[in-house]
Amino acid sequence: MRHFRWSQENEVFLGQIDAEHRDLYRVAEEFEQAIKDNAPLAQRKAHLDSLVAHMQDYFCHEEWIMQSTSYPSYGWHKQQHETARRRLKLFAPLIENGEDEAADLFLEFLSGWLEDHTSVTDRMMGAYVRNYERANGSSAFAGWTGGADAAGSPAPPEPRPCPKTVQFCKTCGEQTTHEMRPGGVVCVKCVGRSVSAELDRD
Ligand SMILES: [Fe+2]
Repeated sequence: MRHFRWSQENEVFLGQIDAEHRDLYRVAEEFEQAIKDNAPLAQRKAHLDSLVAHMQDYFCHEEWIMQSTSYPSYGWHKQQHETARRRLKLFAPLIENGEDEAADLFLEFLSGWLEDHTSVTDRMMGAYVRNYERANGSSAFAGWTGGADAAGSPAPPEPRPCPKTVQFCKTCGEQTTHEMRPGGVVCVKCVGRSVSAELDRD
């Protein structure tokens, strides 16, 4: 069974994120091949280091974008990243010690996790970010300088305006401006009061 093959099923329709995903799939496949070939330990470790770096960069970039665009499901999405981070932290030392069973288990986990995460969780983020860019007329990627701090977290983003839409407010009984804030869409005329609204999904 081939574990890692990026396809259109994994596309999230954000050019930079899709490019990072394709890279991540590629380095994961190279790591898997090194394990299958029983490559020298130093070579396997180099592939693992590359995989770790790609995962950290990819998580950081997404988390930065979600924070900077006030993505309402940021916490839920980040929890999934944390699950992968914890698994990586647990397995990396074992893999570095040459324990092939640990490498197999980790690769099995990562292939399933990547499939589920990119095709559902990242796609939802992609739809929101595209809406954000349409509503604000600006790229959500502007301002990203890359990199993570020592703990693997992205540098906090500069605050940006909340995405705005004009829609019918049941409380006001008229078309009003709404802001997407963490936790929901808020009518600016009923400040502090959350109202349900359908996001403009693609
Ligand atoms: Fe993600």
